[in-house]
Amino acid sequence: MVIFGATGDLTKRLIVPALYNLVRAKRLPEQFRLVGVSRMSQTTEDWILNLTARMNEFVAGRDCGFQVDQLDQAAWRWLTDRMTYLPGDLDDPEAYKRLGDHLASLDVKAGTGGNYLFYLAVADRLFGTAVSRLGEAGLTEENDGAWRRVVIEKPFGHDVASARALNADILKTMAEHQIYRMDHFLGKETVQNIMAIRFANGIFEPIWNRAHIDHVQITAAETVGVERRGRFYEQTGALRDMVPNHLFQLFAMTAMEPPISFDADAVRAKKAEIIQAIRPMGEAEALRNAVRGQYGAGSILGKPAAAYRHEPDVAPDSTTETFVACKLNVDNWRWAGVPFYLRTGKYMKRRRTEIAIRFRQAPYSLFRGTDVERMHPNWMILHIQPDEGVALELAAKRPGPAVVLGNVKLDFAYADYFKATCATGYETLIYDCLIGDATLFQRADNIEAGWRAVQPIIDAWAGQAVLDVPQYAAGSSGPTSADELLARDGRAWRPLG
Ligand code: BG6
Repeated sequence: MVIFGATGDLTKRLIVPALYNLVRAKRLPEQFRLVGVSRMSQTTEDWILNLTARMNEFVAGRDCGFQVDQLDQAAWRWLTDRMTYLPGDLDDPEAYKRLGDHLASLDVKAGTGGNYLFYLAVADRLFGTAVSRLGEAGLTEENDGAWRRVVIEKPFGHDVASARALNADILKTMAEHQIYRMDHFLGKETVQNIMAIRFANGIFEPIWNRAHIDHVQITAAETVGVERRGRFYEQTGALRDMVPNHLFQLFAMTAMEPPISFDADAVRAKKAEIIQAIRPMGEAEALRNAVRGQYGAGSILGKPAAAYRHEPDVAPDSTTETFVACKLNVDNWRWAGVPFYLRTGKYMKRRRTEIAIRFRQAPYSLFRGTDVERMHPNWMILHIQPDEGVALELAAKRPGPAVVLGNVKLDFAYADYFKATCATGYETLIYDCLIGDATLFQRADNIEAGWRAVQPIIDAWAGQAVLDVPQYAAGSSGPTSADELLARDGRAWRPLG
C-alpha cells in the first residue's frame, strides 16, 4: 500500500491508526508493506518517529477512536517494520519511476505478489495528475493476476462538469474496477446498519413507502467550526462539502430499492437510481427549496465562538455558507409526494447525525370525546452519531381512569448490545480495498448523479447578484429560513436538543 500525502493530517489521524487497528484485528497479510510518499525530505526513521509520537498522543487523549491505555507495542512494531518512506513530488514523473523501482525491490525482498493499492491522501487538484503519472510509470497495469487499485478521497469534483472531467481523466488510465472513490460516511457502522435494519427485518419494508411515511428528515449537525480549513472551505461551502456526498449516502441508504444481493454493483446500481430519481429543479424551485446560512459569533458548548468571517483564511465579507437545508422530491412509485428534508451545518447547538422518518398520523376519530387533544405521529430515528442506535416513538395510554396519551420510546442503543471496537471508521474501507470489495465506494455514475442533483442549487446561488447570506449564531439550530422551509409545508424540524 502506498500513501501519497504521507505526512498529512489524514494519514496521521485516520489512515495509519486504521492500519494499526487492522493489524490488531489480524486483518493484514504477513507480506503487507506500507510506503509513504510526500514532498518532505526525511528518512523512514523520521517518518516512523513522527507517527509514533502522534499515535501515543491519540491513545493518551483517547482520540481517533482509541479506548486503550497504551499503544500495543507488538502491533505497532509489526506495522512499522513494514514501513518505508520515499520523498517525492507528485508533479514530477521521476518520483513515480523511483517509486516503481522501490516497489519492485520490496516485492523481491518480501516475495510479495505485486498487488498495489495507491491511496491519494492529497489535495484534489493532484488526483488526475497522480493517476496519469502512475499510468505512465507502468504502475497501473494489472498483469499476471496482480491487481492495482487507487483510492481517491473527496472532494471528487466541485460540480457536474469537473466531476465528469475528473472521471474521464482517470478512466483514461485505470478501469472502473480499479478505482475506489471514498466517502468516509460509508465506513460508519451505523450507516452500514441502515441496510441491515431495513432488509433483515420483515416489519419495516412493507411500510417503507409513501402510503405510510409522511416525510423524512436527514440531519448532520456539527459542533465544530471550519477550524484550520478556511482556505478549503471558502471555495467549498457546506453544500458541496456535505450534501452530494455524505448526506446523499444517508439518503440513498434510506430511500433506495432493495438490491438483489450485496454485490458491489447491485448495491451501487440501486443507489445511483434513487439519486437519479430526485426531481430536477429549475432556478426558482432551487431558490425556494434550498436555504443557506453562515455562522456568526456565539457560543459552543459553553465556550465563546468567533464568527466565520473572522476565521483564519476567510474573507471578512465572505458569502460562503456554513449551513444548508434543502427539500428533495423523489419521483418514483415508492416516494412520490414524500419530501426528504436535508440539513447540515457547522457550529450548531449539538453534534447529531440522524435520519428521522415520520410516519403518517393515525386518524383521530376514536379519541373524539376523550382528553386526547391531538394525535402525535410516530417517528423512527436512525441515530448515526454520537450515541448510535435506533428509536421508535409511539403513543401509549397513561395509567389512570381517563384516556390520556403519553409519548414513549422503544430505544435500541448499540452500546447496550455490542462491544464497541476501536475504530476510526477507515478500517472497513481500507480492508475492503485490499480484498477488492467496492460496495462501500462510489462508482462514477453515483458521483455524477449526486452533483447533477445539487447543480441547480449551485447555479441558482451563483446567479444571485446581490447576496448576503443569512447569519445564525454559533451554537444555535441554524438560520430561521431553515425553519420556514418546513413551516411552508406545515412541518417542523425535530429539535436538535
Ligand atoms: C468531511 C467534511 O468530509 O466530513 C468536513 O469535509 C466534516 O467538513 C466531516 O466535518 C464530517 O465527518 P464526521 O465523520 O466527523 O461526521
